[in-house]
Amino acid sequence: MKDKLIKRLTSLHQLDVDAIHAYDEAIKRMENTHVKQKLQEYKHDHEMHLDNLEELIISKGGERPNRKRDMKGMLLEGMTLLRSSMGDEQALKAMKQNEELTNKKYLEALQEFSSDPDCMKVLEHNYADERKHLTFIKETLDYPHHLDSDGPEESHPQM
Ligand SMILES: [Fe+2]
Repeated sequence: MKDKLIKRLTSLHQLDVDAIHAYDEAIKRMENTHVKQKLQEYKHDHEMHLDNLEELIISKGGERPNRKRDMKGMLLEGMTLLRSSMGDEQALKAMKQNEELTNKKYLEALQEFSSDPDCMKVLEHNYADERKHLTFIKETLDYPHHLDSDGPEESHPQM
């Protein structure tokens, strides 16, 4: 059980590392300043996940995983999409795919280790972030014309 847990947490950690790189790519490309700001905020959430997962892994007797990107794995497809994306909407679609994956993986881990309160605390916190990220991205894609403006502040007349 312990090995399985460490393995699962380490795999989530890798996913968060790769997500940070995907966010870097998306932030570089995003022109809409409101969305760009959100992406920066979400990237920071993923960085906080690295901290809390590392702390948890160590407290469970595992070794601190390194923060090297992998990308061979699960986020590769989303990353490729990002690199080839033209415009904000396509970049967001690629991020949606990435976030669907992180949501799925966090939910699976939550279900698998629901009997461990220390794990639940961290996984629930991170999963709540993941849901928030995915909800924002989906809502923005539902109204892509919002991407044409610079966010809510845009409704004010420009000087
Ligand atoms: Fe996320």
